[in-house]
Amino acid sequence: MGEKVYIFDTTLRDGEQAPGFSMTAEEKLQMAHQLARLNVDIIEAGFAAASKGDFEAVYRIAKEVKGPIICSLARALESDIEIAAKALEPAERKRIHTFIATSPIHMQYKLRMTPEEVLERIKRAVSFARNFTDDVEFSCEDATRSEREFLYRAIETAIKSGATVINIPDTVGYAIPEEFGQLIEDIMNNVPNIDKVILSVHCHDDLGLATANSLIAVKHGARQVECTINGIGERAGNAALEEVVMALKVRKDFFGDLYTEVNTKEIYKTSRLLCRITGNFVQPNKAIVGDNAFAHESGIHQHGVLSHRMTYEIINPEDVGFPMSRIVLGKHSGRHALKKRLEELGFKPTKEELDKIFEKFKELADRKKEIYDEDLEALIFQEFMKIEDQEPVKVLHFQVQSGDKMIPTATVRLLFKDEEREATSTGNGPVDATIKAIQKALGLEPKLLDYSIKALTPNTDAQAEARVVLELDGVKASGRGVDTDIIKASVKAFTDALNRAIVRKEYILQREEIREEGTV
Ligand code: KIV
Ligand code: ZN
Repeated sequence: MGEKVYIFDTTLRDGEQAPGFSMTAEEKLQMAHQLARLNVDIIEAGFAAASKGDFEAVYRIAKEVKGPIICSLARALESDIEIAAKALEPAERKRIHTFIATSPIHMQYKLRMTPEEVLERIKRAVSFARNFTDDVEFSCEDATRSEREFLYRAIETAIKSGATVINIPDTVGYAIPEEFGQLIEDIMNNVPNIDKVILSVHCHDDLGLATANSLIAVKHGARQVECTINGIGERAGNAALEEVVMALKVRKDFFGDLYTEVNTKEIYKTSRLLCRITGNFVQPNKAIVGDNAFAHESGIHQHGVLSHRMTYEIINPEDVGFPMSRIVLGKHSGRHALKKRLEELGFKPTKEELDKIFEKFKELADRKKEIYDEDLEALIFQEFMKIEDQEPVKVLHFQVQSGDKMIPTATVRLLFKDEEREATSTGNGPVDATIKAIQKALGLEPKLLDYSIKALTPNTDAQAEARVVLELDGVKASGRGVDTDIIKASVKAFTDALNRAIVRKEYILQREEIREEGTV
């Protein structure tokens, strides 16, 4: 079957250490459940001795999350290790991860310890940790800037003291792949009993090489990779889990029979959950999980992908749970892509209709960078239906009551095809209550497929942009709303999407009737 590469996820520890990425214990728990569904092998849930909040997060994850090994970081200090062990107590399977720096610069300026004192500390910490669990990981912090002979001694000491996993961190993201691969090979060849433990790597991305370094390490014998969702982590981040896992999966021809047990179909969902929790979105061109990872704009690429996906895609978007391969329409797009998109939207143009829409589409694409579904609909409506700017649902007024000691309640007054309606509803939060009140007033229950909100500027009075994707009786539509008030932005996005779905549905029905009558 081949050899397994263990995936050690440190999103909730190293990832969370990055400025702007901190999470509450509740949020960490939610992420940990998703990481368990992703089927990572180890979840580093936090650094229990670092704060009360971290202790609570590790404890709750240890208690509630089943499947992966739950791990806490601890400095090579008995007091830290004791706290980590306490936080991990309820876990079915637990690991203590203890570390100390082994590079001259860290030992001299940060630890103010001699190399011999560091070796002594490793011995004490690892053997102490073994009193609480037989799964103990030791990391030589700043390994890539450590002196080789001393690094070997540090690892040997940790193994002799009972470590079961040895981790080689490239703490400052300094290594170059060829050199890092050689370091791993040298450790394999020079440290006694290294074959009795799992050799792990932990790479930072300061030079943009974290994934490359992790992969070369695996090629040279490492069997655990420490990584984070979306590559978040200290400074430039850690190796991105999705990149490491997919590289091993896609390039089996290169990596041989190595495999991970990650359920790759959960990758996109996990990435999105982290974005929503931390409020930090990945850049559109981020490998595997960015919005453009499966988007094709140029006509040549679009034609290729439509004829055979593998011409320009090495990963099937479904394998990572990505909603679909996105054909982005722009000025480089051709007739094939336009026709395909129109069909996906429910319009089946005749040849003459397609010619006409294509001409208008090219004119528009010269003025506008990207053509969204909404633009295409507007084009079709103007050209064939003469029904621009239809707004079957118009929200006239809404009022929301919310607070820390009450159930959020919203009342909405709206027009539905010129008929005035009103409804009140409660919800999980003010946005939820308002959306539910709108649905109640309309008597419609669209399925909400996606909802996101982000600040367009960094201040508390920022404009918020809400995006909604919903499905009404099999018709999908998206909407956007911008306002300084997040509830208003959400209501605008929701009604925008709903109006499109209603209009689109009616248009499709009309066309079907016309077709049945044989006039088209
Ligand atoms: O980057 C690093 O060295 C670490 C260790 C604590 C493993 O995060
Ligand atoms: Zn790190």
